[in-house]
Amino acid sequence: MFVALRCSEVLLCTVLVYVSTASCQLKVSSFIGDDVLLPCVYAENEPLPEKVSVFWRDKDDNIVLDIRNNAPDTSSNQMFRGRVVSFPELYRAGNFSIMMTDVRQSDSSQYDCHIPAVDFQQRIVLIVSGPEQVT
Ligand SMILES: *[C@@H]1O[C@H](CO)[C@@H](O)[C@H](O)[C@H]1NC(C)=O
Repeated sequence: MFVALRCSEVLLCTVLVYVSTASCQLKVSSFIGDDVLLPCVYAENEPLPEKVSVFWRDKDDNIVLDIRNNAPDTSSNQMFRGRVVSFPELYRAGNFSIMMTDVRQSDSSQYDCHIPAVDFQQRIVLIVSGPEQVT
């Protein structure tokens, strides 16, 4: 009984440590109507392939932006069409950040930038708050 308890304590700790080191999460705050940069910069040792694909998703797995073989594909992102731009001239440098324009309260969400070829994932938590108070 005692041994079993110790065992589960150790397990729990291991899980907690694992979660805190494995999650590489970035918090971004903004106001309604702002343009906001959601950063995703790959800077690991393993080189990126010549043609790289990057998948941006929101927390419900909606497509925010697909970059396929170095080309942004804006045809499939129903919810974010016209409000998301990336910077193709920076892809070679590993910068797959996106700019979300005119953010709404409903854009408050968790976003993932996933690069399957190098098994890289960046998570962004975007918090959009009410309009900036003019005092
Ligand atoms: C990535 O590109 C964005 C958009 O130009 C820029 O604001 C940001 O500073 C860049 N990040 C890095 C690490 O170069």
